[in-house]
Amino acid sequence: MKTIRVLLADAESENREYSLNLLEGDPDIDVIGEAGRGHEVLEMLPELNPEVLIMDVNLADLDSLDVALEINLKYPSTGVILIAEEENMNLLKRAMQAGVREIMLRPLEPGELINGVKQVAKACRRTAESQKETVDFMKDTGGGSKHQQILKASQIITVFGNKGGVGKSIIAANLAVAAAARHKNEVALVDLDLQFGDISLMMNINPRKTIAELMQESGELTSDLVDEYFYERSGVKVLSAPHKPELGELVTSFGVETVLKICRQMYSYTIVDTPTFLDDTTLTALEMSDVVILLISLDIPTIKNIKKGIDILESLKMLPRTKLVLNRSSSLSVGLEPGDVEQVLGMKIAASIPSDFKITVSSVNRGTPFLNMSPKAPISRSIMELFDTIDQSK
Ligand SMILES: Nc1ncnc2c1ncn2[C@@H]1O[C@H](COP(=O)(O)OP(=O)(O)OP(=O)(O)O)[C@@H](O)[C@H]1O
Ligand SMILES: [Mg+2]
Repeated sequence: MKTIRVLLADAESENREYSLNLLEGDPDIDVIGEAGRGHEVLEMLPELNPEVLIMDVNLADLDSLDVALEINLKYPSTGVILIAEEENMNLLKRAMQAGVREIMLRPLEPGELINGVKQVAKACRRTAESQKETVDFMKDTGGGSKHQQILKASQIITVFGNKGGVGKSIIAANLAVAAAARHKNEVALVDLDLQFGDISLMMNINPRKTIAELMQESGELTSDLVDEYFYERSGVKVLSAPHKPELGELVTSFGVETVLKICRQMYSYTIVDTPTFLDDTTLTALEMSDVVILLISLDIPTIKNIKKGIDILESLKMLPRTKLVLNRSSSLSVGLEPGDVEQVLGMKIAASIPSDFKITVSSVNRGTPFLNMSPKAPISRSIMELFDTIDQSK
């Protein structure tokens, strides 16, 4: 990895010293400067051009979030990590608006800061590369979207969200059932949560063969062969995640690409469930998707992560194909309204799924998608509506 240039900003010299000690041992990180005041930071930035600025909320002169906002506008290649004593909704909101990439709380754990710096640097590099690629592409083609030029007969719809438990799997499963209600025998559901996938549980399948066994097939994967690995439930053909977490390693990006290409040939709709963390296989699925559902809910950990999710999708040039979907929309209690999120992210919420604890719990326990159990319930209707908004066949 190319060395990551880091600038430290904190009114307290002991705090800077502490961060310096945490970072010093890492060969990939180079702390190139320190500042106590916001004005110093803004003066040093054009000259030092750091990739990551680690900035305490408290600076000696300026409001740190005003500094972050100015950096975001003038020096977007520098990623900001904000260090705070505690987080609250107001801070999170302002941090998102200012384009802060990561918020960390004191006391900083050894390793936590190093990981944060590496992740932020990686995200900034990806964004810079994708912006360059977009410019090159526009030059090559004289503008226009690559996707507009390719006629699509089939849609890959990936459900993504970088916070565990936000509802990705249950919504992916029910969205597939909704798609099958409109387009019989044309829908596949692929579980790419390769370690902890639970789609087979939700669809009441006890699969003998999963994507892990499929990857062990020798020779070329053909559509006839791949078809043997899909199990049918509720009019949906399901490819399950491996039986054991360690078998997930058998699934490569190339394998995912091949499987999704075959799905494209065989099905009109392929719904993909993803894990919470972003690995190469998830990236491949996202890049191949025609629609990405970025699933959010309005609780503090999710809000904190939405910006990261958006950054990832932006760096993959996927934002134009992303639909922001709000889950558990009827249990909002954090002082943040859906309209605030739309304003901060500059994206409209395309659909809202209400909370229904009773139906979701019994649906998961029984292994029956709630769309089949209670098709008239508001939660089921909202999934049908979501499918109709993304169905490009109409
Ligand atoms: N709209 C909702 N109303 C009530 N409960 C919900 C709703 N959506 C999801 N849940 C519940 O939240 C829990 C987590 O859902 P799910 O497993 O689909 O999330 P996930 O994002 O796939 O999680 P993981 O990251 O662990 O894979 C489940 O118990 C589910 O029943
Ligand atoms: Mg899941």
